[in-house]
Amino acid sequence: MKVYVTRRIPEVGMELLKEFDVRVWPGDEPPPREVLLEEVRDVDGLLCLLTDRIDGELFDRAERLRVVSNYAAGYDNVDVEEATRRGILVTNTPGVLTDSTADLTFALLLALARRIPEAEAFMRSGRWRTWSPDLLTGIEVTGSVLGIVGMGRIGEAVARRAAGFSMKILYTSRTRKPGAEQAFQMEFVSLTELLSASDFVTIHVPLTQETTRLIGKAELSLMKRDACIINTSRGAVLDQRALCEALIERRIRGAALDVFEEEPVPMDDPIFTTPGLIIVPHIGSATTKTRQRMAKMAALNLRNFLLGHPVPNPVNPVVLNA
Ligand code: DGY
Repeated sequence: MKVYVTRRIPEVGMELLKEFDVRVWPGDEPPPREVLLEEVRDVDGLLCLLTDRIDGELFDRAERLRVVSNYAAGYDNVDVEEATRRGILVTNTPGVLTDSTADLTFALLLALARRIPEAEAFMRSGRWRTWSPDLLTGIEVTGSVLGIVGMGRIGEAVARRAAGFSMKILYTSRTRKPGAEQAFQMEFVSLTELLSASDFVTIHVPLTQETTRLIGKAELSLMKRDACIINTSRGAVLDQRALCEALIERRIRGAALDVFEEEPVPMDDPIFTTPGLIIVPHIGSATTKTRQRMAKMAALNLRNFLLGHPVPNPVNPVVLNA
């Protein structure tokens, strides 16, 4: 059976694909669209990244394709409905990147609170003359209010960290999580309440039609003037232009983004010049250990399906039961 892998992934994953006739795109950037469409023509399985658009046009070309294994927990890059209609299984890599993404979220929260990028730049520029009572004073994290939008695995892992910092935690989610509420002393509130009461807001929802631009101008205007917002989920959940405006007009204090509406972000985007903004290039899951686990999981999902074994992480299990 033939498999196409759209980027080099850690060896632990490739090892699991040994039984197949595997072709790997060798570049450091995604395969160009024409290459991808050509390569999928004769494959039974596709192991792809969040940078690849997997849609009806691709399925039209892929005459034998039976499984799409996404090397990511999020799968908004895959048209799952269309795949399901055609009986193609889609899989993802949930769970293994929970802690690394929660760690990055917390690193960004602390960086915002304690003005770390600003302090670093200040010192490197030679402006440090003396210790002084008001030099680079920030927000005390202990005791401040954290609002978590979305209480899935990552939201909960962020709550665990926040509880360790004695933060007061508010959350909003499609479903209430009584166990986590009790464990981390969290309060379930509406999005409106969360935005108006939090010192830090952090977003942990998947990108769907309902969550696209979930946080826009109106929502940002509910936030406290001294509050900060962090997004490590998907860029399109937050209206980037509205965020830049809010920061420029100092309607909120700061923001930290790991994800963007367009990735990579064009160099002329206001994101690069907006004050109060920390930006990192979609590195939520970027630890060596996590990326290895993701490779193993993505390869296992694909391998198991093609060999007729149980599939650990189906996104559209209905295909398995058809
Ligand atoms: C995911 O898995 O969805 C992250 O965004 C990348 O690891």
